[in-house]
Amino acid sequence: MAVKSPDNGSNLAKKRILLGISGGIAAYKAPALVRLLRKADAEVQVVTTRSAEQFVTHAALQAVSGNPVRSDLWDSNAEAAMGHIELARWADAVLIAPATADVLARLAQGRADDLLTTLCLATRAPLLVAPAMNNVMWSHPATQHNVEILRSRGVVVLGPDDGEQACGEFGPGRMREPEDLVADLQSSRTFSSPTSAQADGLSGGERPLQGKRVVVTAGPTREALDPVRYVSNHSSGKQGFAVAAAARDAGADVVLIAGPVDLPTPIGVTRMDVTSALEMHQCAMGQATDCDLFVGVAAVADYRPASPQTQKIKKTRSQSSGWALELLENPDIIASVAAQPDPPVTVGFAAETQHTLENARSKCKRKRLDAIVVNDVSDTSIGFNSDLNAATLVWANGELALAKQSKADLAAELIHQITVLFVEQLADTHPESVSKQR
Ligand code: PMT
Repeated sequence: MAVKSPDNGSNLAKKRILLGISGGIAAYKAPALVRLLRKADAEVQVVTTRSAEQFVTHAALQAVSGNPVRSDLWDSNAEAAMGHIELARWADAVLIAPATADVLARLAQGRADDLLTTLCLATRAPLLVAPAMNNVMWSHPATQHNVEILRSRGVVVLGPDDGEQACGEFGPGRMREPEDLVADLQSSRTFSSPTSAQADGLSGGERPLQGKRVVVTAGPTREALDPVRYVSNHSSGKQGFAVAAAARDAGADVVLIAGPVDLPTPIGVTRMDVTSALEMHQCAMGQATDCDLFVGVAAVADYRPASPQTQKIKKTRSQSSGWALELLENPDIIASVAAQPDPPVTVGFAAETQHTLENARSKCKRKRLDAIVVNDVSDTSIGFNSDLNAATLVWANGELALAKQSKADLAAELIHQITVLFVEQLADTHPESVSKQR
C-alpha cells in the first residue's frame, strides 16, 4: 500500500505520534514503521516496554526517530527532560505496534504499571493498537474480551492480519505491515479534516453531535413462553453498542436501550436494559420524545407468544399432535418513533438474506424512516454475532455502500454519514434541548 508523501497532502504532516512498542517478535519492524511515519512528515517519540527491548534496541529507535527512547517511569533524567505527563499531553495520537496480548489486557484493565500503560491512561489523544501475537492467543476469549472492552472505549484496533506467523503457525495474529499501518493512520478519522457536516455549521467542530441526544436500540429481545423458555434470535448487540459508542465519540448524549446481551457498557453512555419487545417499546417511547437521532439496531422479535405461562409448560401437553404456538404481533418500535408528531431523525437497520436493497427500501418507506442500513446476513462472516459487518446505507434519494470492516469502524462511518446527510434536520431538531445542554 502506498504511503502518501507530505507534499501529497499527508494528514500526518506535523502530527505528533507517540509510538509504543511492546514485547513481541514483530517489534523488529518498529524502526521501519518509525521511518515511514517520519517520511510522512510526522514527529515521532518512542516508548517501549521492558520486554520490547529483547527484540529491538533503543539505539536503533533513537537513530530513526531522532529522539531519545524511553521505557522507564522512574528515569529521573528522562523525566527532567520531558515528564511522562508532558509526553502524554504532547501526543496527537498514541499508536502501540506491536500490541501484545499482555499489553491489551493491561490497557483493558486500566493498569498503569509501566511507562507505556501510564501514558495511555494520562493522555487525551486517540489510542490505536496493532495487535500481534500467536493466532491461538488472539482467538482466546480473554484476548477477544479485552479487545471488545478497548473498542467500546473508542480505541482503534488495526488488524491483526492473517498469515504465516513467527511461531510457524498460520492464522490471524500477524501485525499489519508498517506501510499498511501508516496508510491506516492516514485514512483513519483520527486526523481527518472537518466533515461537510461541520463545514455546514452543525455544532461541535470535531464533535458534530455535540449537544444532541441520540437513542440507540441494540441486541435481541426475548419473548417468554414460560419461566424457562423464550423465542429470540442471534443478535449479540455488538453493532448497536458500536453505534452508541460512535455517537458518543461524535459528542452526543447517548442512551443505549439494550436487549439481553453480554457486553460492557461503552463509557459515557447511559444504558437501559430490557428483555422483551414490549419492554423495549415502552422504554424507547419514553426516551424518544426529545431525542434528535434514533437508531434502531436491535433485532426486535416481530411476534411474542400469545399466552406466556407462569409455570413451566410440561411436555405431555404437546406430545401427541405437536404444538402450534399462537403468536401475537409486537408493536413496531421504530415505526412508532417515526410516527411521533415531531420525530427525531430515525434510522433503522435491516438484516436481509435476499433482495436486500429492494426489501430495505420498502421497509424504510413502510416504517417512514429517514434511512435504513441493510446488511446481507446470508454472508455469515458479517452481521449477527460477528465482529465484522458490511452494509448499505439507503435513504430516499440514494444509497452508500459501507465496506466490510469492524463493527466499530462501520458505526463511526455510519454516524459520520448520518451527520452529513441529515445536517439540516439535526440542526432543527429540538433546538431548545440543545441550547439547554450547551
Ligand atoms: O447484534 P449483532 O450481533 O451485532 O448483529 C447486528 C444485527 C445483524 C442485528 C444488525 O446489524 C441488524 O441488522 N439489525 C436489524 C435486524 C432486523 O432484521 O431488523 P428487522 O428487519 O426485523 O427490523 C427493521 C427495523 O425495524 C430495525 O431497525 C428494527 O430495530 C426495527 N423493529 C423491528 C421490529 C419491531 N417490532 N420493532 C422495531 O423497531
